[in-house]
Amino acid sequence: MVYATTKASFLAASAKAVSKGGVTMLATKLARNGRFRQSVAIKTNISLVPETIDEYHLPDQQGGLPPRVAQYIATHKIPSPCLVVDTNIVEHNYTSLIRAMPMANIYYAVKANPAEEILSRLFQLGSNFDTASIGEINLCLRLGVPPSQISYGNTIKKAADISYAYNRGIRMFAFDSEDELEKIAACAPGSKVYCRILVESEGAEWPLSRKFGCAPEMAIHLLVKSKELGLDPYGISFHVGSQQTNLTQWDKAITQVSKLFKDILTQGISLRMVNLGGGFPSRYRSAVRPLVNYTQTVMQSMIRHFGVQLPEMILEPGRSLVGDAGVIQAEVVLISRKSDNDKKRWIYLDIGKFSGLAETMDESIKYRILTEHDGTTTGPVVVAGPTCDSADIMYEKTSYDLPLALKSGDKVLILSTGAYTTTYSAVGFNGFDPLDSIYI
Ligand SMILES: Cc1ncc(COP(=O)(O)O)c(C=O)c1O
Repeated sequence: MVYATTKASFLAASAKAVSKGGVTMLATKLARNGRFRQSVAIKTNISLVPETIDEYHLPDQQGGLPPRVAQYIATHKIPSPCLVVDTNIVEHNYTSLIRAMPMANIYYAVKANPAEEILSRLFQLGSNFDTASIGEINLCLRLGVPPSQISYGNTIKKAADISYAYNRGIRMFAFDSEDELEKIAACAPGSKVYCRILVESEGAEWPLSRKFGCAPEMAIHLLVKSKELGLDPYGISFHVGSQQTNLTQWDKAITQVSKLFKDILTQGISLRMVNLGGGFPSRYRSAVRPLVNYTQTVMQSMIRHFGVQLPEMILEPGRSLVGDAGVIQAEVVLISRKSDNDKKRWIYLDIGKFSGLAETMDESIKYRILTEHDGTTTGPVVVAGPTCDSADIMYEKTSYDLPLALKSGDKVLILSTGAYTTTYSAVGFNGFDPLDSIYI
């Protein structure tokens, strides 16, 4: 499907569509002054706005300002802040992943963005779903997802929630401890279980640390026990950390998993499944490798370790399916300096750590920020949120430069914000509304 033959014609069309009396939208201004492409290209050496939708969809072009989102923002009055997600891009990312790794079963990690529009689109495409709670399970079931396509992947579950899931037909559960295994055996008898192991997450911009998983030797003991408890020891899972930039982490994890498969066979248990987790990236400030580099690395490692007897493979992508599909339009509330000769300006936005940008914690995820003045002279800034909490600073140590022309009331676009934003937004901290979102 061709949306616009060139970026220029697309943006010009967006500009024309704006009513004169309406709110002046950043996307429109970008279209009018034509500076956006040039300015970003200079800063990053990567052309972020595609010539065509197909060019945008090339994996290494991920993460520009999606044309349909730009058009929507340019032609609609939307609240601020607000996330706008192009569900066609989610579909594209899903089908690209299927094409790149046809042997894997995809379980979309609902936590990344549980919007009904995303879940139903992925369901229509045949996706399965990895859920973390009863709330997420109910969301999927309400949309008609059969329980056989849902896994309860959180390793920390109340017994009552396991019973609920089991009664609704869920039969696949994750665990990483003896206590959890006993709960599953009691509340979900006979179910398939997979054990999550601890793996390295160095190189991940959003690491998942030691909170999840157990040592491989313990996994053997627990999987043997799962059989004794009447459960079905199905396989092993791991997660190398979200936004993982070090591709060798998958091989290290798969090496451990294949050894586990062999070791546990000596105890009479033949595992059937490897859950490779998430970790594939979105495009933030640093360039990332194309998706195919990730899938090839994973497949080569699986083949090297398992040969022709490949087990079932599960992928649980979250960020890589929805991150680049979304853009938050926000507003500059205030610009100040802390002293007359302060070199850095403080840019306070109407969105912060408590209203969707929680992954800026420790300045981990570094979003790209576009303004209508891009291409003009810039200066160093601290970027902060609007609340009265001093932790509500997104970027202070990380060097960010924004145009000197930026002023209160201006709109900014925060790119690749489709994942892990809406649900991280507080329901009313300091009286601010939760982050709005629109799915197109
Ligand atoms: C169990 C599990 N699977 C999958 C994911 C999704 O990971 P990602 O967003 O890196 O694809 C997460 C993220 O926290 C997770 O906890």
